[in-house]
Amino acid sequence: MTDALTLPPQPPALRVVPQPSDANVHGDVFGGWIMSQVDIAGSIPASRRANGRVATVAVNSFLFKQPVFVGDLLSFYAEIVKTGRTSVTVEVEVYAQRMRLADEVVKVTEATLTYVATDSGRKPRELPALA
Ligand SMILES: CC(C)(COP(=O)(O)OP(=O)(O)OC[C@H]1O[C@@H](n2cnc3c(N)ncnc32)[C@H](O)[C@@H]1OP(=O)(O)O)[C@@H](O)C(=O)NCCC(=O)NCCS
Repeated sequence: MTDALTLPPQPPALRVVPQPSDANVHGDVFGGWIMSQVDIAGSIPASRRANGRVATVAVNSFLFKQPVFVGDLLSFYAEIVKTGRTSVTVEVEVYAQRMRLADEVVKVTEATLTYVATDSGRKPRELPALA
C-alpha cells in the first residue's frame, strides 16, 4: 500500500526529476541511478561538516521502498546522524511527488552512508572542530 505523506519541513539537500535516459523501457528508474543521487545528496552535509573533500567509504543500508518513475519530482533529505574522528555518517530519505504534483507524496528510498574526510593525498583527515 502507498502511504500518503507531506514533504518534511526542512529544505532538501537535492531535488531532481529523473529523465527517460535514467529508466528502463517501462519508465521505471534504475536503482543505480537513485543510488548515485543519494550518494551526491549525502555528500553535501558530509563535505560541509568536513569543510572540504570527502570520500564515500560505506553504504551501510539502502532500502528501495517504492518505485520511482520518469517525471517524478524527487527530494533528497540528508541529515548527519553520527561523526567520528574522520568519518561522517548521513541518513538520506528520498520522497517522490508523482509527476511533479504536490498532492501525491511517496517516500521511495531510505539509506545510510558513511563518508571520510580526506586530504589532498586522499588519506583520512581529522574532522575540523565545530565552530
Ligand atoms: C575512504 C578511505 C580514504 C579510508 O581510508 P582507510 O585507510 O580505509 O581509513 P581508516 O581505516 O582509517 O578509516 C577511516 C574512517 O572510516 C571509517 N570506516 C572504515 N570502514 C568503514 C565501514 N565499512 N563502515 C563505516 N565506517 C568505516 C572508520 O571507522 C574511520 O572512521 P573514524 O575516523 O571516524 O573512526 C579509503 O578507504 C578509500 O580511499 N576508499 C575509496 C573511497 C572511494 O573511492 N569512494 C567512492 C567509491 S568509487
